[in-house]
Amino acid sequence: MTDRELLELARKASENSYSPYSKFPVGAALECSDGTVFTGCNIENAAYGDTICAERTAVVKAVSEGKRDFTRIAVWGNSRDYCYPCGSCRQVLSEFGRNIKVICGRGDGAYMSASLSEMMPFAFDF
Ligand code: THU
Repeated sequence: MTDRELLELARKASENSYSPYSKFPVGAALECSDGTVFTGCNIENAAYGDTICAERTAVVKAVSEGKRDFTRIAVWGNSRDYCYPCGSCRQVLSEFGRNIKVICGRGDGAYMSASLSEMMPFAFDF
């Protein structure tokens, strides 16, 4: 699967977003080393802090199905700038691999990519 195809799965996943507060749907598509893909969307809550981001939805789905070895994640939002993962999502992703390729899309269809360690060079670990 190409980066563009993974990004399209992320965009498609954003259609399931529950985001009545921000009105900013986000989708993610997380690829595992065996080729399986788990998608996710942001799910907001009236208690705003209980919102879960699209990336973490995808990670939670994958890990709960026994997958922990990730190769790429695509993230898409209809934004002007690339839809980068927030700090919490970078930290959660870093738990499962510093070399995950992160593909960030934006509303006009353009995207950029970087490794997770480039995006978060000093992730917490102990
Ligand atoms: N959001 C994500 O889903 N992923 C991110 O990495 C950044 C932010 C969501 C959370 C919230 O529902 C909306 O975008 C606006 O912050």
